[in-house]
Amino acid sequence: MLISLYTVVLASPLCGALAPQGPWDAFNYSPASKTVRPVSVHIISGDVRGAQGLVQNSSAQATLSGNSSYVVLDWGKEVGGRLSMNIDNATSFSEFSFSFTESPEFINPNHSDDSCQAVATQNSDGVQSFRAPLATGPLTQTIGQQRGGFRFLTIVSNSADPLIISNISLAITFMPHWDDLRAYPGYFSAPDPGFHDMDFLTKLWYAGAYTVQTNTIDSHESRQYPCQWANNASGGPVDGPILVDAARRSRTIWPGDWGISTHTAFASLNDLLPTKNGLTVMYTTQDSTGALAYSGPPINARGSDTYIAWILITTYEYYLYTGDLTFVELVWAKYTKALSFLESQVDETGLADVPAAFSSDWARSGGAGHNSAFNALLYRTLVTAADLATAVGNSTLAAAYLANSTLIKAAYNALLWDASAGLFRDNDLPDSIHPQDGNSLAVLFNLTTSSAQNQAISQGLTQFWTALGPLSPELNDTIIPFIGGFEVQAHFIAGEGERAIDLIEREWGYMLYTNLSVQSTLLEGFTANGSLSYRAAAGYFDDPTYTSHAHAWSTGPTPALSFYVLGIQLTTVQGATWSISPVLSGLPSAEGGLETGLGFFGVKWQVEGQTLSLTLQTPAGTEGVVTLPGTGPLTVDNYVQSTSSGSVELEGGNHTITRQL
Ligand SMILES: *[C@@H]1O[C@H](CO)[C@@H](O)[C@H](O)[C@H]1NC(C)=O
Ligand SMILES: *[C@@H]1O[C@H](CO)[C@@H](O)[C@H](O)[C@H]1NC(C)=O
Ligand SMILES: *[C@@H]1O[C@H](CO)[C@@H](O)[C@H](O)[C@H]1NC(C)=O
Ligand SMILES: *[C@@H]1O[C@H](CO)[C@@H](O)[C@H](O)[C@H]1NC(C)=O
Ligand SMILES: *[C@@H]1O[C@H](CO)[C@@H](O)[C@H](O)[C@H]1NC(C)=O
Ligand SMILES: *[C@@H]1O[C@H](CO)[C@@H](O)[C@H](O)[C@H]1NC(C)=O
Ligand SMILES: *[C@@H]1O[C@H](CO)[C@@H](O)[C@H](O)[C@H]1NC(C)=O
Ligand SMILES: *[C@@H]1O[C@H](CO)[C@@H](O)[C@H](O)[C@H]1NC(C)=O
Ligand SMILES: *[C@@H]1O[C@H](CO)[C@@H](O)[C@H](O)[C@H]1NC(C)=O
Ligand SMILES: *[C@@H]1O[C@H](CO)[C@@H](O)[C@H](O)[C@H]1NC(C)=O
Ligand SMILES: *[C@@H]1O[C@H](CO)[C@@H](O)[C@H](O)[C@H]1NC(C)=O
Repeated sequence: MLISLYTVVLASPLCGALAPQGPWDAFNYSPASKTVRPVSVHIISGDVRGAQGLVQNSSAQATLSGNSSYVVLDWGKEVGGRLSMNIDNATSFSEFSFSFTESPEFINPNHSDDSCQAVATQNSDGVQSFRAPLATGPLTQTIGQQRGGFRFLTIVSNSADPLIISNISLAITFMPHWDDLRAYPGYFSAPDPGFHDMDFLTKLWYAGAYTVQTNTIDSHESRQYPCQWANNASGGPVDGPILVDAARRSRTIWPGDWGISTHTAFASLNDLLPTKNGLTVMYTTQDSTGALAYSGPPINARGSDTYIAWILITTYEYYLYTGDLTFVELVWAKYTKALSFLESQVDETGLADVPAAFSSDWARSGGAGHNSAFNALLYRTLVTAADLATAVGNSTLAAAYLANSTLIKAAYNALLWDASAGLFRDNDLPDSIHPQDGNSLAVLFNLTTSSAQNQAISQGLTQFWTALGPLSPELNDTIIPFIGGFEVQAHFIAGEGERAIDLIEREWGYMLYTNLSVQSTLLEGFTANGSLSYRAAAGYFDDPTYTSHAHAWSTGPTPALSFYVLGIQLTTVQGATWSISPVLSGLPSAEGGLETGLGFFGVKWQVEGQTLSLTLQTPAGTEGVVTLPGTGPLTVDNYVQSTSSGSVELEGGNHTITRQL
């Protein structure tokens, strides 16, 4: 009895198998322990002795003497959580403060980077002060006091008297539901010989995964709003982890961000509980019109059609990745009501006319009217709603959703396609721009009618490119990796893999290596000249310290590398059926995989001379289609196929396939 139970447990894919070990593990940014220590002393100012001891060992003491003496400790990468240290000696006058920053540009003994309110004076967060008389012995930040995201900690003596401290460490609070933060079920590795760092793509894949981990927080540890330095607000009426927008700032559900971050969480971590909890929160926000909120508590913003659509689309993605039909059934009445709300905006043109009051999006300008991004999202919502309606057993409704989606696609092409530009316009007004968001989403969500149209858009989007990535026509002086993540996918779908890699190298190559940032997690956005003054004139009030350095909406390359360079896609729930169709993208080889409840899906391919060879591993009992580029027949497990089509249907298991390029 006991033995068979043991066998069942071992065989269960729900155990959460780990990805195979390999050289890629060196690029996993996640720490081996949930308690981390600083890795170096970055700056010493004034009379500070023994600072190096804080890095080296838990019993070595450091002494800060004299008012305003300080030490800056570098934790080596983005971290977040509750600090502990020992106060070994203090007089009745000794005092000190902590200040924190993600960017080394904003290290300052008098204030932290801003995490709640953007102000031009850059000092709304200030410092966290510990006043006299200090108790000697261990000191630990409360949950409220914790810093959600930082790389540099400044400890400042605020009195003339000496202060002796030791044993500083940080208890990481993100990913509260995981014991081993490095236990990724997915992996990715590919050399990038064309770039200054051959390991760039592998590092970036892991940087995206780690960014999502830092944005996965306990639902009771959101940022208080209205603003105060207190990370003990409720992020919504659920217990457990939620997937939020940023590690340091806001720490609130913004469901549009899931259009990227949920896929990253799936491809790297197979961790969909934080998305499920987030969806649960957002469905509690429905009002009598059917509308849902634009953000979760405590901010509770309202007024975004696009973000409502993303909630509905993410409901589908959550179902696709997990097969959790019970959850779909639980929210189905609210889901259909929210979709009716969005559809009620469709007018006689066949497109939705976004009311100004619902035109908020990723902070871009001008989202009202027959907006391209929203109508692309509405199309995707209806197509996926049809699948969900089928899953809950309502085929009549599924057919009606599909019929409505067809009308939107036709109107989208009739009203918005600009053949002379080879791009969609943002709306049907005479002075409309050609947007980065609407065009990227149109390709991603199949609003196009031919591969030639996809290729035109892929080409057309390059007109916005700079050395650091596309300058978005939708918002002045802005490079926006959230939308960049959709554009990367659009190039892969258009078959322009080398262009997708080029874009990744420009935009994410900048973010991952710039010494303005944390070199581990990914920036929310930046300006044309690479500065941190993202949205300086669009809501961030000239406060570059407000910009987030760990923003899960910027992690698009992680799932894109898994879904397009490895080419692994689920075509039905959990990958019961799948397709494997790698886009070679000018790379010599790639390998990696991802996991669902059915098991592990792994791909390894390489180009040698004119031969492409691919090995794959998929769970027993599944089936799918492998499509390889090239010419001539495929050789599958040493048998030459009779047709010269590049596609073959296969049962789950291990296979080796080759084709001539
Ligand atoms: C740790 O610090 C203590 C106190 O400075 C010192 O005696 C000890 O040698 C250090 N241990 C290591 C391993 O460096
Ligand atoms: C603690 O500090 C006081 C005042 O500076 C000093 O008299 C005392 O010797 C110190 N004790 C230790 C254990 O360092
Ligand atoms: C970043 O690198 C540049 C060029 O190497 C250097 O001038 C600058 O001081 C560095 N900035 C920081 C904050 O380290
Ligand atoms: C939340 O944290 C703040 C700042 O640390 C603290 O003042 C407040 O008492 C905390 N609230 C609760 C309910 O714990
Ligand atoms: C420490 O210095 C700051 C400004 O440099 C000053 O405002 C404060 O009064 C000083 N504190 C003590 C105890 O000397
Ligand atoms: C150092 O701090 C850690 C974490 O708070 C604690 O577990 C450990 O006992 C402390 N060690 C010493 C020597 O104080
Ligand atoms: C299908 O959905 C429609 C619209 O919500 C509803 O009126 C109808 O009763 C449903 N049919 C079934 C079989 O559930
Ligand atoms: C399809 O669109 C029409 C017109 O906008 C709307 O009245 C109808 O409710 C939609 N059907 C479904 C199933 O959403
Ligand atoms: C794109 O939409 C067309 C119908 O407009 C459909 O025939 C085609 O299969 C879709 N492509 C994908 C990849 O879903
Ligand atoms: C766009 O941003 C640049 C750089 O901040 C600024 O010089 C310019 O005036 C802005 N243009 C508009 C139209 O706001
Ligand atoms: C970069 O752009 C920002 C925002 O437009 C501006 O404030 C800053 O002065 C620029 N920096 C340089 C070095 O040109």
